[in-house]
Formats: sequence, C-alpha cells, structure tokens
Amino acid sequence: MSTPRYHGNPQAVRALVRETAVHRDVYTDPDVFALEMEHLFANTWNYVGHASQVAKPGDYITTTIGAQPVIMVRHTDGAVRVLYNRCPHKGTKIAIDGCGNTGKFFRCPYHAWTFKTDGSLLAIPLKKGYDGTGFENSDAARGLTPVRHVKNYRDFVFAKINDAGPDFETFFGESLSSLDNMIDRSPEGKLEVAGGVFRYMHNCNWKMLVENQTDTCHPMVAHESSAGTAIDVWKTAGGPKPMAVEIFAPFMSSYEFFEGMGIRVWDNGHGHTGVSHSIHSDYSAVPGYFDQMVAAYGEARARAILDENRHNTVYFPNIMIKGPIQLLRIFRPIAANKTLVESWTYRLVGAPDLLLERTLMYNRLINAPTSVVGHDDLEMYERAQEGLASNGNEWVNVQRLYDAAESASPVAVTNGTTEWQMRNQFRAWSKFITMTM
Ligand code: FES
Ligand SMILES: [Fe+2]
Repeated sequence: MSTPRYHGNPQAVRALVRETAVHRDVYTDPDVFALEMEHLFANTWNYVGHASQVAKPGDYITTTIGAQPVIMVRHTDGAVRVLYNRCPHKGTKIAIDGCGNTGKFFRCPYHAWTFKTDGSLLAIPLKKGYDGTGFENSDAARGLTPVRHVKNYRDFVFAKINDAGPDFETFFGESLSSLDNMIDRSPEGKLEVAGGVFRYMHNCNWKMLVENQTDTCHPMVAHESSAGTAIDVWKTAGGPKPMAVEIFAPFMSSYEFFEGMGIRVWDNGHGHTGVSHSIHSDYSAVPGYFDQMVAAYGEARARAILDENRHNTVYFPNIMIKGPIQLLRIFRPIAANKTLVESWTYRLVGAPDLLLERTLMYNRLINAPTSVVGHDDLEMYERAQEGLASNGNEWVNVQRLYDAAESASPVAVTNGTTEWQMRNQFRAWSKFITMTM
C-alpha cells in the first residue's frame, strides 16, 4: 500500500518530474513503484508476447503485465487471448510453467474447476453443491477474467488493463513504423520467436534501463573496457573482421557519430536512436538475402526497408526493439530496485539462416548474463541505484540539449546525443501514472 505521501496525491507525483530533472523517488520509492503497478502499467499498452509462441490451439505462455500474472493462449477459434492467471475460485494460478499446451481446457490444480481457452467456465466437480445458491450470478461463474483490451499487431500481442488511456493506434501512432520495419525485413513479412530467451536480474529500477536505450553518450565510455578490448585483440591478431568484431566495434564510435545519427521522438513516450545511420549500418551483406527481398518486394521497396537502420526503438513504458537485429528487450519491474530483463530474438521467416546466427550472436555478446557489454551497463545502473541513496542532491539531471519549446512539439528529429527522449518518457510517465489517480 502506498503511504498518503503519493497515494491519492497526483499533485505530489507530478512534482517528481520537472522539465529537466527527475526526483530520485521515481527510482527508489516503493510507494511510487506501487502506483506504477496500479496506474502506469494499467493505462498503457504492454507487450505480452509473440503469436508464434502460441502457434497451435491450446498453446499458452505465462507472463506478467506490470505486477499482474497473465496467460496468453491460442483459443480453439484461432485467436490469441490474454487472461488473468488466477482461478475465480480461490485465486490459485492456473498455469505456472512458462509455456505449454493445455489442450481444449485449463484445469485448476486445486479443486479441478475447468475453463475453456477463452476463459469461460467449463465444469465444476460436484456442481450440484452450488444449486440454489445464486452461483450463476457470481464473479466466479464468469471463469478466468480476460484482460479487457488486447491487440494482435502483425503477431506482436499487446494488452491494456484499464479502459482509461488511448486506443492502440493513438497510443503508438507513427512509432509502429519501427515494428513494421523489423517485420518487413522478412521476405514473407513474418517473424518467429527463435533461440530461446535470456533472463537477467538487475538490482536497479526498471526506468534506468529504459533511459539507457537512447543514451548515446555512454557507449564510448562505459563500454571501452569490453568493446574497446575486443577491437584491440582483433587488430593485434589481424585478418578479416569476424562477425563478433563487426558487432562490438561500433560501440566505440565517436561522439560525432552518435550526434549525427539523430534521435526521433514520438508522442506518449516512444522514440528511437539512429535516424540516418546507426551502429547496425555497416554489417556485411548476407549472401542471397537482398535477392530474396527484391523478389518479395521489388527493388525500390527492398532498398527502402534495408536502408532503415534504426538503432534502439523504445516503446513506452518498458520494451525496446532493434529492427536490424530482430531483437526485443523487455524491462520487467519486480520492485523499485529490482528489474528482470528479458531479451527475445526472432527469425526472419524465409531469410537465410546466417541472419538468425547474427541475431543470436548479438544477443549473446551484448545482452546475455554471460555477455561482456551488458555487464558494463549493469554496473552503471547498480552504482546509480546505490548513489541515489545519498542525500546530497535529490534530483537526476536530464537537461542535455533541452529546448523549452520541445514539450509543445511531441514529434521531432533531433541531435543524436540529446536527452529529449528521456524527458519524453518522463512526460509520458507523469501523464499515464496520474491519469486514474
Ligand atoms: S482454487 Fe481453483 S478450483 Fe479451487
Ligand atoms: Fe550500454
């Protein structure tokens, strides 16, 4: 439960976000965290999973939206449903094993109530015990509650818990172009989850990770010891540039490189780095791929798709995608100072296997618990989380390249080292957390 300090006090919550600074409580205060779970993650569209994870009727995954456990399941009618993972009888989680196939119905492990894969109640043992009790009018009789708003966008399934907040198209607007570009890179316009998932616990607030996705002033500093060393080793060894070095080397690009690549911001907290070029622009061509793309789309369109080299696209509140790598990261809030990071990878259906190999290599080298680069970031987040405990200064600065007119123009392309996108996220944070308070 929130204390009266922030609970029921939208004014106090709004005061945590200034134009160019953010109060440390947004990262450290358990009451603010509780409000995020109750309001922010309920009023926004959250990524639930990819339809390829539930390819056949009865296939399901278990996951969370904010703090709430949900099941994503393929119903017998072929549609993907999102249900709260909670038995209407005593609250028992219906499914706990990550993924599986439940057949035609879910069966609660406690008293064996069963539910169709759209959540509706199928049967109760010894049902006559409810005769004459008015059970048919109870909440329990409605079965597993569906999440109210679900959108399957080109196999990416999103859900919104509350009626409050914008509809899907309004919430994401033009930012869907990044998701489109990632999907269009398949000659068949289709992705599949492939290669498993990395799950990696971080002792820091989830928003530090979201901010870092468009922080272009840190790679050449924080990653010098990892990416910089990889380049040195390769230069000493000589020979052709291996795929791993192609992946590492751009992390050591200059400030000018990152300034020039640009950042685009969109309304509602979304934005991306890498407008004109990015750290993904100079990878070697994969034999046969361009020809497949030309055959599928025609040359002009194939070039347009592949010339788009967006670096990180943040979808507010808590995912990031890399179109040119076919990778999605989700920053799951566990507590004010605990975040579970998942890194998912996709196969471009119909494209050469070497592309998936690069995707998986990127994920291993940069994002895995055994990676080298990801640890540099983790060290910075955890130091920041610890440093924020000091009372010398209660504010985190997000002032770089601030323009007083920016909040009036929610869509813009600007210098690639700006902190505008971080300010954009916090404006959205303030809007969506207070929307239903
Ligand atoms: S708790 Fe699920 S059937 Fe009783
Ligand atoms: Fe980093």
